[in-house]
Amino acid sequence: MATTLHRLVKFIGVAAAAVTLGLAPGAMASAAPPPEPSMDPLIVGGTAATTQQYPWTVALLLDGTQWCGGTLAAPNKVVTAAHCTAGKAVSRWQIVAGRTDLRTSEGHTAKVTKVWQHPGYRSVTQGDDVAVMTLDRNLNYTTLPLAKPADSGLYKAGTQARALGWGDTTGNGDYSDTLRQVVVPLTSDQTCASAYSEYKSASMVCAGFPQGGKDTCQADSGGPLVINGKLVGITSWGEGCAQAGKPGVYARVSSYYTQLSTQISS
Ligand code: ARG
Repeated sequence: MATTLHRLVKFIGVAAAAVTLGLAPGAMASAAPPPEPSMDPLIVGGTAATTQQYPWTVALLLDGTQWCGGTLAAPNKVVTAAHCTAGKAVSRWQIVAGRTDLRTSEGHTAKVTKVWQHPGYRSVTQGDDVAVMTLDRNLNYTTLPLAKPADSGLYKAGTQARALGWGDTTGNGDYSDTLRQVVVPLTSDQTCASAYSEYKSASMVCAGFPQGGKDTCQADSGGPLVINGKLVGITSWGEGCAQAGKPGVYARVSSYYTQLSTQISS
C-alpha cells in the first residue's frame, strides 16, 4: 500500500517534470507508440541483471520505497544524481546493496549521514546533476572506478554503454522489483544537441538508438552508465523514455572527476 502510494506520488512528479520540460501533460505516455508485445519492454527494452554481476549497483530507497539508483565508489560512498537528493532530508534514505530483488531482504543496507550535491546544480536540464552520499557504515561490495578526463576515448560516439536500475520498464509507471540492464550506444554531441536544445557537452552525455526502444526511465536516475569497467555516466533525464530521436541524458562523470574524487576520498 505504502509502495503503491509512493509510486503514485512519483508518477505525478514525473507528469510535473514533463510540464517542466515543456511537454503537454500526458505527452510522455501518449507520444510513445504502444510497446510491441514481442520486444519485452523491460529498464525499457532491457534484460534481467543481478547484483552479483554488478555488485556496485545500489538501490536508493526514500522512506522505504525504491526511488533512484546509485553506484558504490568506495565502501561508504555512493555516487548518484543531485536531482535524486535535492531537498530530501538525509534521514529518509536507505541504501541497499546486494539485493537483486527488492522484495527480499538479501544483501546489506546502510543509512546516509551526509550528502554532497554539486554546488552548481539547479535542475537536470541545466547540468551538474551529480551528488555523493556518505554512508553510516561500509558496504563491503566491489566498487566501480570513475571515468577520468584522460578516459575521453570512452566517450566516442557509438561506444556501447550499459545502464542498470530498478526503474520504470514501460514509461507508464511500471517499476521493476528486480534489477534490469540495457546496453545503448553513446551518441555524438551533435546528435544530442539536435535532440535537446538544453544539451551541454561539458556536463552531459547521451545514449540511445536513433529508433529508440531501449533506455533508462523514471527511478533509474542516479544509477550507473558503465563502459569498460568505469562509471562514465549517471542517469539524469530525457523526454519520455525510449522514444525515437530522444536519447537518455546522463551526467558526464569524467567532467566531475576531481570534485567527485575529493568527496569519495574525504
Ligand atoms: N529523471 C529520471 C529519474 O528521476 C530518469 C530519466 C531518464 N530518462 C531517460 N529517458 N533516459 O528517474
